[in-house]
This record gives sequence, structure tokens and C-alpha cells, in this order.
Amino acid sequence: MGTSTTFLNERAWRYFWHPVCTVAELRAAAADGNRPLAVTLLGERLAVAEIGGRVAALKDRCIHRSTKLSVGRVEAGGLRCAYHGWLYGADGRCREIPSMPEHSIPDDCRVAAHDAAIEYDLVWVRLDSSLDTRIPGCPAFGDAAFRCVAGEPYTWPTSAARRLENFVDLAHFPFVHDGTLGDRRQPLVPIAKVDRLNRELRFRFVPSPEMQLPGVALMAPTDYRLWVPFTVNLEFFFPDGERSQLWMSASPVESGVCRSFWFTCRTADRDGPDQPHLDFQALVLSEDLPVIEAQEPPEIPAPAEEYSVRTDKVSIAYRRWLKELSKAADEDADALARCLDSVRIESDRTFDDMPPAASASAAG
Ligand code: FES
Ligand SMILES: [Fe+2]
Repeated sequence: MGTSTTFLNERAWRYFWHPVCTVAELRAAAADGNRPLAVTLLGERLAVAEIGGRVAALKDRCIHRSTKLSVGRVEAGGLRCAYHGWLYGADGRCREIPSMPEHSIPDDCRVAAHDAAIEYDLVWVRLDSSLDTRIPGCPAFGDAAFRCVAGEPYTWPTSAARRLENFVDLAHFPFVHDGTLGDRRQPLVPIAKVDRLNRELRFRFVPSPEMQLPGVALMAPTDYRLWVPFTVNLEFFFPDGERSQLWMSASPVESGVCRSFWFTCRTADRDGPDQPHLDFQALVLSEDLPVIEAQEPPEIPAPAEEYSVRTDKVSIAYRRWLKELSKAADEDADALARCLDSVRIESDRTFDDMPPAASASAAG
């Protein structure tokens, strides 16, 4: 493709937790002949399986003769390679070499095993554990006030950063979502005050109250929380006191490809049908996809290669932080931790979880 220089360093995202599949997908593979699930994260092929009650993410390449472990079988004691039957535990260690049962297996006979965990009915993986990062929040999940419905994950031909940026883009509603989430006659966009704290970007969006939109439309004063790098939650506050949340995490599959996992959650009509809410999101996504897949390049380029304006405030703040993070990751994990914990407050809001004043200075 020959783009000039890479603006963001993808290696930085290896320190973060990303969703790689749903638990339902993992269990469906297991139910279908004890198969593990093959996934790709940041270009790395992984075999995911539940081994001894714990989820494991192993490098998808047998150390013996390099066939994919994901074509093997899951057993109680581990994941067995399809070729010569070597058995690997959840920690990646080879437990058994069937052709040599009396041979004691050295400790370095192992495949790389990455951190893996289940949260929100999703499997999360972190490729590099040398930084203390956490699985992003999903405030409505497990909150009895909300009914949370999982949408079907979707794979788009764009980077996770572009996908995320589209999700927090306030100026596209009147054009891409005219009649759905916006109104072409009202293209003005409020300039949000964007706060950076607790490893999140936060801002509030108050749409024009004059728009005529469908009843299931998620359009109301909205609190955005964006956990860097690729997870976002929108909480909508409706005039009748009801709330909705829309959560999405864009998993960076490989260069120019991401898979989005998402929930739509509501306090109103919790026993009512879910389908209208899923259908509405499907409509919104079908409106977004044509412009997103037409973005060239699919990765966010250097600032000079695109023309930004004041109403791109959120996108600019997001890109700036991603850039700082990817530069810090070039130094070391400590620099990345400092950048991740940097704080910038623009709004006059107060936060329950505001860090102590001592750390509330901009860094990086
Ligand atoms: S290639 Fe896996 S056991 Fe031989
Ligand atoms: Fe959109």
C-alpha cells in the first residue's frame, strides 16, 4: 500500500486487554468436537480454549513442527496438537509427548501463553503483561437497573482507532445518520470539553432538542467514556429519567481490520422486545460502514495528511493521546504507564473517581 510513515505504533496496544471472541463462540467451538477457537489479535494468531476451567490464549503454532494448535483438540488436561499429539497446558507448557512417554519434558518446552480472562461474556486477551492494565469498564453490565443485550460482533475493514473515532464523532450525525441520529438541516456541533483521567477520555454531548427522530433512536444528552485505546461507553439521559447505554470495544485484529463487540442497554421497558433496539443499531451501522470502509488509509495517518477543524475536537484529543501512548511505548513500559495515568481536565465537572490533586498534572 506504501503509506509514508506509520503515525501510530501498533506495538503499544499489546499492553492492553482486548476482546477476541464471545464466550458463546468459544463454547460453540468446544461443543463442536472439542475444538479450540482460532483468533487474531494485533496480527498474532492465537488458539483460545477453556482448559481445566480457565480460559487460555496460546500462540497458534505448535513448537514441534509448527502446525496450528487451533486445528487440535481440547482435552481435560490441555490442548492437544493434531499432528503428533503433544499436549499443552493453559500455561503453554508441554505436558505430554506421546511418542516418548518416559521422557521428562524440560521447562522451556512450551508455547507462548498470553493473559486471558472472561469479562462481560467476552474473552479478553493481553499480549504483553509487563504493564498493569485493566479490562475496560462496562458500567451497565451486571447493573440490575439495566437490561443489556449483546449485539452480533462485526468485522470492518478499518483500524480499531478509526472505528473508535467514528463512534465518538459528533459532526457526522447530520450527514451519515440524517433522520436516524441527526438532521441535515442542523449541522452545527457543540465543542465538547474533553477530560482525560483514569485512563479515559470523557466528555458530554448535548444534541439539539429540535430534531425529529425515531423513538428507539439513542439521541439525548450523552456522557461519553472512552477507555484508551479502543473501548467506549455512551450513557444517554432521557427527559423521562430513563437511561440507555451503548458500549463498544473495537478489537485490533490486524492492520486495517477490527472486530467490534458491543452491548445495547436500557432501563426502560426491560421486559419488552430486544429486537427493535438491535435493529436500530444495525441500521446505524449500515449507515456508517460505507464511509468508514472508504477511508484511505484505514489507519489514522499523520496530522499533515488530513485537515482537522475545531469541531474535530474530540478526535484531536483522542489522536493526541494515542500518539503520546505509542511514543511512550517506544521508550518502555514505565513511560507508557506515566502517559496512561496523565490527567487533563477541561470541564468544570467533578468526578467521584478524581485522582488526588498531586497526580492531577498533565504529563507527556
Ligand atoms: S507439530 Fe504439533 S505435535 Fe508435532
Ligand atoms: Fe455513525
